[in-house]
Amino acid sequence: MSESPSRLITPDARPDDRLDQTLRPRLLTDVIGQEQVKENLTILIAAARKRQEPLDHVLFYGPPGLGKTTFSHVLANEMGVSIKITAGPAVERAGDLAAILTNLHAGDILFIDEIHRLGRAVEEVLYPAMEDFALDIVIGKGPSARSIRLKLPRFTVIGATTRLALVSAPLRARFGAVYRLDYYDLPAMVTIVKRAANLLAVHADQSGIDEVARRARGTPRVALRLLRRVRDFAQVRADGTITSEVAHDALNLLNVDPLGLDEVDRRVLRTIIEKYSGGPVGLNTIAASIGEEPDTIMDVVEPYLLQLGFLDRTPQGRVATKRAYDHLQLPYNIENQQPRLI
Ligand SMILES: Nc1ncnc2c1ncn2[C@@H]1O[C@H](COP(=O)(O)OP(=O)(O)O)[C@@H](O)[C@H]1O
Ligand SMILES: [Mg+2]
Repeated sequence: MSESPSRLITPDARPDDRLDQTLRPRLLTDVIGQEQVKENLTILIAAARKRQEPLDHVLFYGPPGLGKTTFSHVLANEMGVSIKITAGPAVERAGDLAAILTNLHAGDILFIDEIHRLGRAVEEVLYPAMEDFALDIVIGKGPSARSIRLKLPRFTVIGATTRLALVSAPLRARFGAVYRLDYYDLPAMVTIVKRAANLLAVHADQSGIDEVARRARGTPRVALRLLRRVRDFAQVRADGTITSEVAHDALNLLNVDPLGLDEVDRRVLRTIIEKYSGGPVGLNTIAASIGEEPDTIMDVVEPYLLQLGFLDRTPQGRVATKRAYDHLQLPYNIENQQPRLI
C-alpha cells in the first residue's frame, strides 16, 4: 500500500482539508504554540517596519502540517503586503520564475512551497533576485549573445520545505532567517483543538478535546482532521457531543492508537523488529518491505517515531528502541539485537 489520500493521519494536505483555510490563524497573536518562532518573527517584523523595508527572506522547515504555510500567510498579513504563491515543482523553467519575478510589486512576498524541489537552472535565477533584486536575461544566441540586468522591486521570498538537507547550500545562504517548526506539545494541541471546535461549532467537552489532541501526533493539520471525523462519529453514534469516550471509540475505529500511530507507523516498527531483529536497517529497505514510498517514511513516519523515542538513527540505519517494543507489546530482549557500531 502506498501513501494514499485515505490515510487519516497523513499530515500532507488532503482535499477535505480545504476547510482548514477558514481555521488558519491570520495574525501572530492567533497562532498557538511555536513560542520561540513567534518571538523571532515578532522581532523580524518590528525591525522591518522600523526600517520601512520589506522583510528579510525567510525559510521555514519541518514535517508537514505544522504551520509553514500558515506562518507565511501570517507574515504577509502582519506586513500588510500581498503574497504570491508557488511551489518548487510548479516552476519548471527559468523563464517561469522570471515571469513571476517581473510581476512582483515592492514589498510583496513570494511564497515558494517545497522549495527543495526547484531545478538547478531556476535556482540560478533566484540567487541574484534574492541577493541584488536583479534579473539577468540573456538576449540572442551564440557569439552575439549578451546579458542584460533588469532591476526588480525589493521583495521577500518565503520558502518552505520538509527537507532542509535537500535545499542547496547556496540557496540556504540567501535566507536571512531560517526557522524550524517542531511538533506541538500537548497544551498547544489542546488549545488548537478547542479553538477549532469553537469555530466549527462542534460540541465537545474538555475530556473529548483532550483525547483528540493527544492522538493528533503533535500536528495541527492532523488534529483538525481527527476532530472532523470524531464529530461525524459523535453525530451518528452518539448524541452529537464529543466526550472522551466518544473520541476514544471513534479513533479506535479509525485505527489511530492512543499515541496517534496508525497502521503504517505500526507496520514500520513491526518490520524493523520482526523482519530485521530490531535493526539497524536502512530506510529504503524498510520502505520496500512494506511497499511505501521512502519519501513518506522520511517525511511523515520517521520524524514522529524519532520524536516519540521509538527509533534511533545510527550510521548503519534505523534501530527500534525498547519503547517501541513496549508500545507494540513485543518482548524486548537485548541479546536478540544485532551487534552494532555506533
Ligand atoms: N500554530 C497554529 N495554530 C493554530 N492552527 C494551526 C497552527 N499551525 C497550523 N495550524 C492549522 O493547521 C493547518 C495546517 O497548517 P499548514 O500551515 O498548512 O502546515 P504546513 O504548511 O507546515 O504543511 C492549517 O490549515 C491551520 O489551520
Ligand atoms: Mg504547506
